[in-house]
Amino acid sequence: MSAIKEMSKKYNLHSWSAQGKLNPMVVTKAEGIYFWDEDGKQYMDMSAQLVNLNLGYGNKAVVQAIKDQADSMPFIGPGYAIDVRSEAAKELVELSGLEGAKVFFTNAGAEANENAIKIAKAYTGRWKVFSMYRSYHGATAGAGSLTGEPRRFSNEPGVPGFIKFDGPYAYRAPKACKFESEADVTEFYLELLDNQLQYEGPQHVAAIFMETVVGSNGILIPPAGYMEGVRALCDKYGILMVCDEVMAGFYRTGKAFAFHNFDIKPDLVSFAKGATCGYVPLGGVIVSEKIANHFDDNKMFCGLTYSAHPMGCAATLATIAEYKRLNVAENVKTVGKVLADTLDEIEKKHACVGQVRHIGLFSSVELVKDKATREALVPFNNDKEGLMVKIVGMLKTEGFSTYSHENMILVAPPLTITEEEMKTALAILDKVLDSVDNMIK
Ligand SMILES: Cc1ncc(COP(=O)(O)O)c(C=O)c1O
Repeated sequence: MSAIKEMSKKYNLHSWSAQGKLNPMVVTKAEGIYFWDEDGKQYMDMSAQLVNLNLGYGNKAVVQAIKDQADSMPFIGPGYAIDVRSEAAKELVELSGLEGAKVFFTNAGAEANENAIKIAKAYTGRWKVFSMYRSYHGATAGAGSLTGEPRRFSNEPGVPGFIKFDGPYAYRAPKACKFESEADVTEFYLELLDNQLQYEGPQHVAAIFMETVVGSNGILIPPAGYMEGVRALCDKYGILMVCDEVMAGFYRTGKAFAFHNFDIKPDLVSFAKGATCGYVPLGGVIVSEKIANHFDDNKMFCGLTYSAHPMGCAATLATIAEYKRLNVAENVKTVGKVLADTLDEIEKKHACVGQVRHIGLFSSVELVKDKATREALVPFNNDKEGLMVKIVGMLKTEGFSTYSHENMILVAPPLTITEEEMKTALAILDKVLDSVDNMIK
């Protein structure tokens, strides 16, 4: 075992894992969409790390902006106005298209949601918060209580007042549902949500949180009209609509923010990841005009030593400028089509693929034991034999790095990936899925 790995095993605690059998890869170099291990083996980063490295590794403009900021003013408390702090907020508001909005900056995604919860409760004076099953909103107490999947369990019993609802997921809808159209799916899930709001008393509900497109739980794309329907329910009951864009934001779906794919304006938007591509940490909440105005006369009880950190703000400014200079939106469109077409072929071809879902460069492959019954390749939250880990390992051996969640493999590379690189990567995926087909025979 190399000295670095040995030291890591001795001193680092790694996320979401039993530590004993971990074998953390030692990475020695990274460039573009690639990284290399200590033996010189090259990997295509098909998850953009944690779906945050949207510009890939080694973007010189972002690195330079961070260096310049470190030289000029690495830190000044959040109460002061400085150039990059004001400009980063202005750029984010403009990118969101939410005229009159303001930004409260945090360090990352969970903190963004923590503060969105507080802002929604303060604005409405209500205490219940709705969020979806099969969602991930972060690992801290409040964001963990929002989270609608097993990563929440370690936070339980959690913060009172957090209610989960079933969001649209037609592929795994109750068997009795016989949807004939997308409109049926939308109608069914909106009715479920409205019923549940009634049971909970909509007058107590401060906010409905949603990942605009559900990310790590398998790229669940809202059917036409669903987001607009949720917006209408929020308006009807005076509830705030919060779009968690931590993963789906910053061109991942092809649009600057994922909510731009729908005819809605959220009240709050939480963001992180792609704001800086992870080069330094930064997240935040975009607070729409009406709610921001509320805090003109009412104290906003939110604060962090590192809110609007100068290094993060400088990186954000440079990152947004790079998205525009590189015309990332256009690349997502072009390469996203290759991804979509190839995944659709993969769905038809492989016995082990139940469904593929994709929007922009945000996609997942849902694996099944049986296409007809839709039985998942591994039971929910119970992959005892580590089958998905094995499949991800097979991909890695072929130089395709990504992660899985439940029975789904995520494909969400840096947004700078070329068509050729995408084709090479998908050929690897295709080959590994041949082996999975053989496993389920
Ligand atoms: C949709 C979403 N929200 C929130 C978070 C939490 O962000 P962080 O890990 O930066 O706290 C994540 C992280 O993956 C996420 O995907």
